[in-house]
Amino acid sequence: MIEDESPTPEGESASASQLIRSAATSDLPELLTVHREAFTGTRGVSLGNVYLRSFLRSFVVDPTALCLLAIRDRALVGYVLGEPVDNRRRSLRLAPAALFGFVTHPKVWWRPGTGRAVVGRVRSAGKGPEPEISALPSPAFALVGIGTSRREQGHGVGRALVDAFEREAMTRGYRSMQLSVYKENEVAVRLYEGSGWHSILDSGDALYYAKPL
Ligand SMILES: CC(C)(COP(=O)(O)OP(=O)(O)OC[C@H]1O[C@@H](n2cnc3c(N)ncnc32)[C@H](O)[C@@H]1OP(=O)(O)O)[C@@H](O)C(=O)NCCC(=O)NCCS
Repeated sequence: MIEDESPTPEGESASASQLIRSAATSDLPELLTVHREAFTGTRGVSLGNVYLRSFLRSFVVDPTALCLLAIRDRALVGYVLGEPVDNRRRSLRLAPAALFGFVTHPKVWWRPGTGRAVVGRVRSAGKGPEPEISALPSPAFALVGIGTSRREQGHGVGRALVDAFEREAMTRGYRSMQLSVYKENEVAVRLYEGSGWHSILDSGDALYYAKPL
């Protein structure tokens, strides 16, 4: 559990303060709102709230996973999700909710890349991680997702969450961290590179980044 009261950035009101803490199930409605806002227009959001709630909840209730929240002036302004690199159980548990999303939101099949993504997900379920990821100092912790509310973007919330994520991974005894990001997501790439992560693998659409701890 993290409770990190960061100083208010210069130029903001003296009453504003930022807290980073672990999420509880009571945070799920607000977390869903911020997640939908950060990832508007993505395939995951197109699958609907049943899938999204299950996805977010899976990080909050699994003690091996991590969901940290950034709170500013009592409002949730960002979050970061993580899990051990070899955690397959969470994905398997999410399969029924994902299937429900695909059945109830069939338009998602028309999105470019959906078929490829589904086939890739099924194939990778039976395989181990790529050699570049297996070669990371073990155990390795994966940063699965990070998002900040639209009006807060560019004000340092993402950076504070990545820093807190790293500290928590270290506290839990992990020796490295890994993530993947779409190449075109320049803001996220800048965030990770600026936080000292380095690219270890180019898989076409996505880049894999890692950082030893
Ligand atoms: C990626 C994301 C989490 C970054 O959060 P943030 O709170 O905006 O990040 P910060 O304010 O800490 O900024 C981090 C870096 O990104 C840069 N940045 C932030 N917003 C930017 C923008 N609109 N344009 C260009 N650079 C931007 C910052 O300048 C900073 O880089 P610097 O330190 O070199 O100046 C946020 O933009 C987001 O939620 N995006 C949508 C969801 C997403 O794509 N998540 C990542 C994939 S899992």
